[in-house]
Amino acid sequence: MLHNARWTRPLIVSMVALACAAAAGVASADDAPLPKLSQKKPLKVGFAQTESNNPWRLAETKSFKDVAAKCGWQMVMTDANSSAAKQVSDIRSMIAQKVDLLVFPPREEKPLAPVILEAKKAGIPVILVDRNVDQSLAVAGKDYITFIGSDFIDQGKRAADWLIKATNGNAKIIELEGSTGASAANDRKKGFDDEIASHSGMQIIASQSGDFARDKGRQVMETLLQSHPEVTAVYAHNDEMALGAIAAIKAAGKMPGKDITLVSIDGTKGALEAIKAGELGADVQSSPFFGPISCETAQKYAKGDKIDTWIKVSDKFYDKSNVDASMKDGY
Ligand code: AHR
Repeated sequence: MLHNARWTRPLIVSMVALACAAAAGVASADDAPLPKLSQKKPLKVGFAQTESNNPWRLAETKSFKDVAAKCGWQMVMTDANSSAAKQVSDIRSMIAQKVDLLVFPPREEKPLAPVILEAKKAGIPVILVDRNVDQSLAVAGKDYITFIGSDFIDQGKRAADWLIKATNGNAKIIELEGSTGASAANDRKKGFDDEIASHSGMQIIASQSGDFARDKGRQVMETLLQSHPEVTAVYAHNDEMALGAIAAIKAAGKMPGKDITLVSIDGTKGALEAIKAGELGADVQSSPFFGPISCETAQKYAKGDKIDTWIKVSDKFYDKSNVDASMKDGY
């Protein structure tokens, strides 16, 4: 009896621990090395897009289509229509089709992590582009090759720094957040809010998601303009929502750029034109052109080179001082 307890107790304890970890959604302790990538051509590459409702997403998809032939990639492409659940099932179907490599922007930080582990188990290497996943659930360098993308926290900080200067440290701000649960929304909020917090004259009076979409941004702004007529500034997590907000501000009889100062992130053609028109104050670039750098990274990985866990993309900044010379950057 005593002898049995010595063996069964630790077993039960570890089984309970495993069950708790699984229930909490913690990644399994899979210490297997990352799957290798073949150097064959063509290589079957799955690209699972989140949605195609804005110029940024279209530019990102085009960047992969443009690089495919040059890189020797035969693309399998899907569009999740703004649904994290659909993106997960799109990726599962690519795993079932036995693609050689998966490249995708995870729409949200948590729901897309388990499918990365599934790909690893199936022997398919993964490169994340643009957005990252929650590192407590899947880890760059261990569960997937790397994350290629911008520093979203820094983007938010740069937007805040410009706004603080432009408003002499005094503003009542409406923040239009990106898609709930997306790393781009979480980090752009953190970078901006933390910077604003150390300036007593800067006050965020409302913060709500516009799902990175123009019409949703317009609708949210329309409602918030009614409940917060005292607003003097808008920080939008992307250009589409900023352009939606500009439409709502005009419809409310106010002048964007005069009555309300706006700052945003992306660098789309529409936003650069809005800077030229004096309606948008400034824009932090966020590059969507991940095709060439993903190709280069995959080829290095296939050769056996060591890959950094975060390949950071550097972003420009646009305001009225450089917008004329920068119009060619817009997409
Ligand atoms: O993740 C990047 C963001 O997602 C871009 O700012 C936005 O336009 C897109 O939908």
